[in-house]
Amino acid sequence: MIEYDPFSDSVMRNPWPHYAQLRREDPVFYLEKYDTWFLSKFEDIRASTTNDVFTAERGVTPEMVMLKAPPPPDPVFSMLDLPRQRDYRRMFVPRYTKNAVAGMEETIRAKTRALLRPLAERGRFDVYSDLADPLAVSVIADLIGIPNDEALAMRERIARYFAREPGQLGTRPENEVERIAIVTRIAELVTARMQAGDSGGDDHISVMLRTPAEGQPLSLGSMVATVYTWLVTGVEVVPLSVANTILYLGRSPDQRRTVVLDPSLIPFAYDESLRFDQPTNLLGRFVKEPVVIRGRKLESGQGVMFLWASGNRDEEEFERADQFDIARRPARSLSFGHGAHKCIGEHLGRLEGRILLEEILALAPEYAVDESGVRRTYSEFLHGHHAVPIEFRARTL
Ligand code: HEM
Repeated sequence: MIEYDPFSDSVMRNPWPHYAQLRREDPVFYLEKYDTWFLSKFEDIRASTTNDVFTAERGVTPEMVMLKAPPPPDPVFSMLDLPRQRDYRRMFVPRYTKNAVAGMEETIRAKTRALLRPLAERGRFDVYSDLADPLAVSVIADLIGIPNDEALAMRERIARYFAREPGQLGTRPENEVERIAIVTRIAELVTARMQAGDSGGDDHISVMLRTPAEGQPLSLGSMVATVYTWLVTGVEVVPLSVANTILYLGRSPDQRRTVVLDPSLIPFAYDESLRFDQPTNLLGRFVKEPVVIRGRKLESGQGVMFLWASGNRDEEEFERADQFDIARRPARSLSFGHGAHKCIGEHLGRLEGRILLEEILALAPEYAVDESGVRRTYSEFLHGHHAVPIEFRARTL
């Protein structure tokens, strides 16, 4: 008997036994109460991301797919299908290529060191809230083109928007209030920029103000929803995955020593933490045309969720999949998705992750995780750790 429900207390606390059971017993699992299918095998998820019988246009978040919350009414590239998606996404691509992102290394390192300096003297800090989170907020604020203090205030609201109590099914009014406050403030900021005219900048708001999509200028609603998407995707996953990496290395002293002795292994350790505990746990689509997967027929109009984190623990793809092993060099991964919606922030996420880990390990190679303060994120969507306090010998930088 399968008890899987992404909103259940048991799955939010520890999804891994549920995912193992799904892969073993019912890899194309249907839950009638959400009229939604759950794909848990690596190969099924990967193939489905490029199968155009599925649509992103009715929403992709657990709330939209399972609870049928409406997607934003105006176009956002993360919730459009090809070819429309390409028309909106392409205006941002030049800032996110491997080369363009490499040009941000110096700035991101300087920001990281400025945040670390006061923390180094304390001999103790929280990897998520004291360092990785403010860094990610500052980086995405610059890219979007909004002041850092505005982004920090919005980031606190995002945390309250995603906060969940046991038994909670999706967002409650007290969560929704936070989202409305964020989009209201974004609308004010974008409107002020529209009135001021094009400043010639290459931040996302400037680019949206001057670039048409589908032959028309972007509507205010589309720009606001897009800024909101950048903010949420830009602030959440890097801090969770960096905190995860420090936690798992802290629990595996031999692997941590290996990385400290050879920092060129840091990107592999980060990638392994993304595989082992993927922060964007699940995202979905709707079925546009009936399709059969492993003998199960998915009907049009039904939801389908891609359990990325389960695919990344699939034994058919990864040997000893439940072990955190930085020596892995996997040929494929689902950490950044696949297909047209593959993460546009992949290179940036990897760069931020590498710099944060390099700087933490250089400052505190012998850190000890204070396990009593470690907190796992309690959410149907984002997984990982949002509190990982470490202790080390205090230093002046
Ligand atoms: C390093 C950690 C990251 C992970 C694990 C991650 C994971 C993912 C995944 C799995 C998707 C696919 C979504 C789907 O198919 O529906 C995605 C898409 C996306 N990611 Fe990331 N991401 C990361 C970092 C970032 C960063 C730093 C940004 C922003 C600066 C970002 C922005 C986006 C956006 C905008 C999309 C939507 C792309 C589209 O639909 O065309 N991500 N990400």
